[in-house]
Amino acid sequence: MLCNGSLEMCLFFFVAWVLYASQVAAVLDIKVPDGALVAQYGKDVVLNCSFSASSAVNISDLSIIWQLADTKKIVHRFVLGQDDLGSQSESFVGRTQLFPGRMSTGDVSLLLQNVQIEDEGVFTCFASYEDYGSASLQLLVGASYSKPHIMAKPASNLRPGDEVTMTCLSHGGYPEAVVLWLDGRGNNLTTLSSTSQVANEKGLFMVHSVLRVSVEANSSYTCRVKNEALGEETHSSFNITGPQVTFPPVALWVTISLAVCLVGLLIALAYVCRKKIAESCKEGPPAAEEAQEVEEDETKTAMKPLNS
Ligand SMILES: *[C@@H]1O[C@H](CO)[C@@H](O)[C@H](O)[C@H]1NC(C)=O
Ligand SMILES: *[C@@H]1O[C@H](CO)[C@@H](O)[C@H](O)[C@H]1NC(C)=O
Ligand SMILES: *[C@@H]1O[C@H](CO)[C@@H](O)[C@H](O)[C@H]1NC(C)=O
Ligand SMILES: *[C@@H]1O[C@H](CO)[C@@H](O)[C@H](O)[C@H]1NC(C)=O
Ligand SMILES: *[C@@H]1O[C@H](CO)[C@@H](O)[C@H](O)[C@H]1NC(C)=O
Repeated sequence: MLCNGSLEMCLFFFVAWVLYASQVAAVLDIKVPDGALVAQYGKDVVLNCSFSASSAVNISDLSIIWQLADTKKIVHRFVLGQDDLGSQSESFVGRTQLFPGRMSTGDVSLLLQNVQIEDEGVFTCFASYEDYGSASLQLLVGASYSKPHIMAKPASNLRPGDEVTMTCLSHGGYPEAVVLWLDGRGNNLTTLSSTSQVANEKGLFMVHSVLRVSVEANSSYTCRVKNEALGEETHSSFNITGPQVTFPPVALWVTISLAVCLVGLLIALAYVCRKKIAESCKEGPPAAEEAQEVEEDETKTAMKPLNS
């Protein structure tokens, strides 16, 4: 045997054999797209794979296997001109299709429908036609995040300097989002926030980010949720406008002073009025006294004859 020496020797021969075998056997030059393929969650994607055929391919002589690189699960199998789906992995049942119309040109691409998060991974395309060969491609999955919803606590009667907790919620995305908080002037407030992302049973993330700030008048707080895999961004702002920030201190003092002035004025007015009323009352009694005197005089006069 070649391999009765050391373990290293064995390993060396094994590696050499693999390299040799792959060069000899892989004469079917299989082409797949360069770089990772990004598919939208829930949509369909075509995993391109082809070999160059010198003449029209006789499909009866063609076999294709699409397989997951790590688990070796069968995604789709086509043997000598016919689908052979007995060994297909359960998670792909009813979601895969080859393109028989294109096979005669060596196109063995796979249509994968209703892409799921767990489809993410490396797919290997094997083709056998006279010779055989294989190539692998990476599938990434992206799902769009919903427009964030911002809740503030407390939400009303805010005064400048009040501590406010803002919560930004966005859901249904994949992969994990990059969350940023900015104020109206573009300042980065992200370090003041804390973000958690939890996946649901479908693998889609729910973003929950909390920002604590002391608010300023006429300010706005924006929560940005970025999906870098899809090159997407969605955002919402919470605006704190003039009327919402009630009574800035200056206005409050102006209002109080005005109120004090008004009350003072009213008191003064009331005093003056009372005095005036009192004066007019004093003018009344003298007339009455005169009348009484006249009456008394008359009585006296009336009594005079009796006296005399
Ligand atoms: C896949 O193949 C189709 C048809 O040949 C082509 O239109 C498309 O651009 C290819 N896609 C990629 C990602 O290479
Ligand atoms: C295709 O191959 C099958 C089986 O090898 C053979 O019977 C058939 O005649 C071939 N068809 C053509 C068009 O060459
Ligand atoms: C904001 O700050 C965060 C963390 O401090 C950083 O990762 C991010 O790149 C910054 N973004 C911008 C737009 O300045
Ligand atoms: C906040 O203001 C921005 C720009 O001024 C505007 O685009 C956004 O719709 C406002 N948001 C709310 C909730 O009013
Ligand atoms: C806030 O905005 C309102 C209306 O745009 C403006 O009248 C007010 O002066 C602003 N207040 C501050 C403190 O900037």
